[in-house]
Amino acid sequence: MLSSDDVFNELGIGPVWRLRETPGSSRADDGSHAPAYTWDTLTDAVAHCTACKLAASRTQGVLGVGDRNADWLIIGEAPGADEDAQGEPFVGQAGKLLDAMLASIGLKRGDNVYITNVLKSRPPGNRNPEPDEVAACRPYLLAQIELIQPKLILALGRFAAHSLLDTDEAIARLRGRVHSFCNVPLVVTYHPAYLLRNLPDKARAWEDLCLARRTMQIL
Ligand code: URA
Repeated sequence: MLSSDDVFNELGIGPVWRLRETPGSSRADDGSHAPAYTWDTLTDAVAHCTACKLAASRTQGVLGVGDRNADWLIIGEAPGADEDAQGEPFVGQAGKLLDAMLASIGLKRGDNVYITNVLKSRPPGNRNPEPDEVAACRPYLLAQIELIQPKLILALGRFAAHSLLDTDEAIARLRGRVHSFCNVPLVVTYHPAYLLRNLPDKARAWEDLCLARRTMQIL
């Protein structure tokens, strides 16, 4: 029988849960990490965060939503106007399409799925996130990964893929294979907001979802 390490070798990535990049996390005597945040301290930190200029214009920080023990972690770009108002990621039109995408592979928001964004605060006018904002938010995303310990990450869109994989390769080249972030397998697909404007790419997004589901099945 294959061990999980065999599976990860087959996928060309390291064994899961050797998280190397959590600022502030402490190392116990046995070498294991203690999370820098609990859910309570993380929720409080995001709610009161002033680490970047977005604090001045956002209505509220949007940490994420869903099952805190999920196998699936979905990562988008940043809250938009609806998310900023309601305090939950992907609640607008793009969110409806995301829910439909999840349903197409038998998943449901909140049930073994956690949804978050690279940025926890809305960039004004929905402009692109800036590098200092991404850097300021990174500890929160890393803390979420450490707390959730997902089996697989689905990165939605160019911005999430680029900031997680530290690349500027086109989505067309990033999709179709399994990457890794913090030693968690990561699959890239199109952002639902993009798919709303580019219907033909829905077929490609479906292929990506199938790749993610196949990958999850062998983990
Ligand atoms: N787009 C995103 O990337 N995230 C959201 O939460 C909403 C729209």
